Amino acid sequence: MKGIVLAGGEGSRLDPITRVASKQLQPVYDKPMVFYPLATLMEAGVRDVLVISTPKDLSRFEELLGTGSQWGLRIEYAVQPSPGGIAEAFLIGEEFIAGNAVALILGDNIFHGDLGLSSRSSELHDEAIVFGYPVNDPERYGVIELDASGRAVSLEEKPNAPQSNLAVPGFYLYDNRVVEIARGLQPSARGELEITDINRFYLKEGTLRVIRLSRGVAWLDSGTHDSLLDAANFIATIEHRQGLKIACLEEIALDHGYVDVGTVMRSLEGMPQSGYREYVEKVVEERRSSS
Ligand code: DAU
Repeated sequence: MKGIVLAGGEGSRLDPITRVASKQLQPVYDKPMVFYPLATLMEAGVRDVLVISTPKDLSRFEELLGTGSQWGLRIEYAVQPSPGGIAEAFLIGEEFIAGNAVALILGDNIFHGDLGLSSRSSELHDEAIVFGYPVNDPERYGVIELDASGRAVSLEEKPNAPQSNLAVPGFYLYDNRVVEIARGLQPSARGELEITDINRFYLKEGTLRVIRLSRGVAWLDSGTHDSLLDAANFIATIEHRQGLKIACLEEIALDHGYVDVGTVMRSLEGMPQSGYREYVEKVVEERRSSS
């Protein structure tokens, strides 16, 4: 399965901090925000990644993430000239997707915990997977309503009167028809190709699978100054308590067998002294002593 990180948009709600570097490059405690969605894709088994951002910001992402080979990934880059909607990612990424199933994650969506994706999810046929996450303020999101058996019955984008408290987070997995479906969309009233319209297509077809995320999973918002601070505090709290890092890409790459210890040792050579480097050194030491 291929993966797309959509990291464009105007980030205007975070002005002035987004004037020179986009939202998804801002720190969430000890890492740039984009590390977190990238980690989520890696944990879902995705190794071919397309990062989409604005003409202004794309080169910064390239500088930060490079080819991805340091994490056993192949990262490509593409521009979204203006924010034409989340579903536009599939049109921009058509060549990259090349007829495969594809996972799309928004560059500002941070997950922590087991999302319940089985290995079956890595090659989807004739279905899509979205998640449902209980929130206090569903009217700010795509909202999904489920029947007693857990099947999706309705899906609305930012409804005034939500039919449930289940928001649909910005992480979606689709079969290889998604590019075709995106091509058939009309822009919404706000002039965007809506991801909710893609999900509605699968809903109508009866092929939309919804994984209801459990209480134990954290899905964090990072769209406002306060939610960004809350997300940073959350990450810091867990990391301090456990002595383990969330979204350390070298560690995830080792855990999934995407790279060997030698590759991470070579990355360390170019890494300046920092808490992140010390952590990666510790991970390498542990792997070497246990092998
Ligand atoms: O975070 C989950 C929510 O994301 C979903 O529940 C909604 O269904 C979905 O529409 C979306 O809602 P938002 O109001 O958060 O969408 P927003 O326009 O703020 O864009 C989300 C991120 O995607 C943001 O970081 C910018 C990026 N983006 C957005 C658009 C429209 C792009 O890179 N390009 C775009 O064209």
